[in-house]
Amino acid sequence: MQNLFNGIAITGSGSAVPQTCLTNENLTQIVDTSDEWITTRTGIKERKIALAPESLTSLATAASQQALAAAGITAADINLILLATSTPDDLFGTACRVQNELGAIKAVAFDLTAACSGFVFGLVTAAQYIKTGVYENVLLIGADILSRWVDWEDRGSCVLFGDGAGAVVIQANKSDRLLGFTLKSDGTQNQYLNLNYKGTTQELNSSEIQVTQGKFHPITMNGREVYRFAVQKVPEVIDKTLFTAHLQAEDIDWLILHQANQRIINAVAERLEIPQHKVISNVANYGNTSAASIPLALDEAVRQGKIQCDDIIAISGFGAGLSWGAAIFKWGR
Ligand code: UT7
Repeated sequence: MQNLFNGIAITGSGSAVPQTCLTNENLTQIVDTSDEWITTRTGIKERKIALAPESLTSLATAASQQALAAAGITAADINLILLATSTPDDLFGTACRVQNELGAIKAVAFDLTAACSGFVFGLVTAAQYIKTGVYENVLLIGADILSRWVDWEDRGSCVLFGDGAGAVVIQANKSDRLLGFTLKSDGTQNQYLNLNYKGTTQELNSSEIQVTQGKFHPITMNGREVYRFAVQKVPEVIDKTLFTAHLQAEDIDWLILHQANQRIINAVAERLEIPQHKVISNVANYGNTSAASIPLALDEAVRQGKIQCDDIIAISGFGAGLSWGAAIFKWGR
């Protein structure tokens, strides 16, 4: 046992995005779309796209270095690295590469896949390791490079996604700053959002021995169904989390939803009667960065001085799985 406290605190954040910017205007050269359609339907104006040598490892490492500096700890202090991603550099896992880049010699490192809910699922996972006394300092990263996996001929989905990484340091703390959480999965709706593996069976060297080999195919999405799911389930899961935290919606200082679509963000805030000035949004600049979107928005708001120590923050992620979840925490130690 390394830690005698059974609370957690989120003590620092960081983020990183690729250098290359793809505007709505740029997209009109690729698919039959317009800035007007993308802006009115999604609120997105531009997104950042990772080009070699940028990688999931490099973005995740840059975001992590900022988070460690903000928390005032070093890589050698980290016991656990959780990398929430659906787009690893290596299917065997990318967290160990980040561990190596950071020089986090003591840390156990592994990937966690829960699509756009990855950061919320990762936060709750990190909290369990700390609350049971196993670990003291956890680095949680949400990072994705969905531009690698978008079907660039599908105008219904390729305009939505962007690349990026966000990270937070979560530490053992006397009082528990994680006030409540709820996680949900519904595999019956899995077909609405996929990045599927498809293989064909072949004989090896004309022998009778067969194996199946193939590759992952680009994202397919039923946008209307995912939209319907999000505007129904996200307010529900935040309401449930408020109830478990013994809080009311008006107690929330900042609402940070997965940045998928400004219309979804507005609809959820309206349903919860949370005023616009408490809602953090940067979807216009980055599009949907999957597991990175919540920590990226959180880190920007912290660096802009909006989020202050002790502010109550409600986050909610939703997406493929289908999966969704919410967490409410007090910022800082
Ligand atoms: O992390 C979670 C990931 N996914 C999401 O969050 C997606 C949730 N869904 C959405 O955000 C919205 O459903 C979309 C933005 C994807 C689509 O908006 P919508 O208002 O639901 O549009 P729609 O799919 O109903 O399409 C309306 C029309 C269609 O034309 P017709 O059939 O009415 O003639 C589409 O073909 O808009 C057309 N359309 C486009 N037109 C110009 C679809 N994509 C585009 C496009 N540019 N990029």
